[in-house]
Amino acid sequence: MASSSRVLLCFSLFIALCFSGIHADEAESKEFVLTLDSSNFSDTVSKHDFVVVEFYAPWCGHCKKLAPEYEKAASILSSNDPPVILAKVDANEEANKGIASEYDVKGFPTIKILRNGGKSIQEYKGPREADGIVAYLKKQSGPASVEIKSADEATTLVGEKKIVIVGVFQKFSGEEFENFLALAHKLRSDYEFGHTLDAKHLPRGDSSVTGPVVRLFKPFDELFVDFKEFNVEALEKLIEESGLPVVTEFNNDPDNHPFVIKFFNGQNDKAMLFLNFSSDVADAFKSKYREVAEKYKGEGISFLLGDLDASQGAFQYFGLKEDQVPLIIIQTNAGQKFLKPHLEPDHIAVWVKEYKDGKVSPYKKSEPIPEKNDEPVKVVVADSLQDIVLKSGKNVLLEFYAPWCGHCKKLAPILDEVAVSFEKDPEVVIAKFDATTNDVPSDFDVKYYPTLYFQTASGKLLPYDEDDRSKESLIAFIEKNRDKTETTTETKTEKPESGKDEL
Ligand SMILES: *[C@@H]1O[C@H](CO)[C@@H](O)[C@H](O)[C@H]1NC(C)=O
Ligand SMILES: *[C@@H]1O[C@H](CO)[C@@H](O)[C@H](O)[C@H]1NC(C)=O
Repeated sequence: MASSSRVLLCFSLFIALCFSGIHADEAESKEFVLTLDSSNFSDTVSKHDFVVVEFYAPWCGHCKKLAPEYEKAASILSSNDPPVILAKVDANEEANKGIASEYDVKGFPTIKILRNGGKSIQEYKGPREADGIVAYLKKQSGPASVEIKSADEATTLVGEKKIVIVGVFQKFSGEEFENFLALAHKLRSDYEFGHTLDAKHLPRGDSSVTGPVVRLFKPFDELFVDFKEFNVEALEKLIEESGLPVVTEFNNDPDNHPFVIKFFNGQNDKAMLFLNFSSDVADAFKSKYREVAEKYKGEGISFLLGDLDASQGAFQYFGLKEDQVPLIIIQTNAGQKFLKPHLEPDHIAVWVKEYKDGKVSPYKKSEPIPEKNDEPVKVVVADSLQDIVLKSGKNVLLEFYAPWCGHCKKLAPILDEVAVSFEKDPEVVIAKFDATTNDVPSDFDVKYYPTLYFQTASGKLLPYDEDDRSKESLIAFIEKNRDKTETTTETKTEKPESGKDEL
């Protein structure tokens, strides 16, 4: 169960966590991580060439999981040469909110690498377990591009499983070389870079070129590409384009996962075809799908091919059933979904065209409306949300939960008691909504479980942000905020949205 919860979360914001295999291990002796706040942040940062800062919130579960790993990494890196400083800022603390907004912190945890006394800021895009953090930061604190002097060095750097960008030059000076280094600095959190005077060292491509040329090695499609472009922005664009496979494969191979993460973090609409890779028809699907992906290249859709075996998380997230495969689902950036189950290879091109032409209706995930709904806490599904909540004209306390969520299980008997205490009141409804099997409409901001909302009879939505989810507090909140039929309207203060959490 725990693994499915992790996979579900991954398909939302912090996909990276999916593959990181985090194990909380609290028994570390503290404390190599520096605690910074508004009183000493600037001072500390300006004194160091390389500081890593984690912005966290005390209530954020992913931050709690990261903490021991981050601390362990800090202790290992404390003896690194040059020193690598790991720090943390409680961004939930009122006094620190200025720093958080200065560093554009939108979710927790957010980790930034500050170089050069804070003058250059880079997003941390590495793993979240101690050894991975250490390896990533060691690389980040070294040179942005390393010189390749032999075939062995080239083979070690390039490998077979990642994207590596190598500049071939006649001399390590001049505008082209400087621009290459600038690019390496800019993109170093995403790719590895090397430079060489001799293309013969390189494992793939024309070994007689003398440069200047930028060669991108990749583990998919054409395996390498040469660019003769040395404008930093233009090069960056070319690299972004060829850095994603035409079709990203999602299976149990961890080497594919960085590309899967890139796929989900990308700005494009996302087409995902799921099937059983071991079935006879897999090859036919792969080649037809690839044709379609090539056809729509540059048109704002990215394509992923997922093996049923690795995709349980996706199936749960989208509310799909295994007997619907082979299937294709498109999720737009705006959050709409389009689904074609029981796909055949020849359907792919036709259906994607229909989708592009606006001829496919969106798909909404909902459990069936329950026939019986006579427990104190009412069951709401996507298809009954309008009736029971949004258009009900009642005061409704609605819980968004996930079946695997421990805090939700603790809350369940309390909600029951709250519901029982309002049983005689026809204007108050206590309800629950399984957000894993039903699509949550955009009226609600559900980033963690349980999320509680209160809708007044007149239709005003209030998030319930208190940590205190006792029966007394919930009842008091309902009493305070409900629309009372007999009294005149009173002014109600709406709580500010809580910060983003951790999906
Ligand atoms: C920064 O100040 C806080 C108290 O305001 C203190 O707890 C923390 O240790 C200080 N950090 C450093 C690195 O001096
Ligand atoms: C995929 O197909 C193979 C071969 O037909 C079968 O043995 C396997 O159980 C299938 N996997 C799933 C997850 O259905």
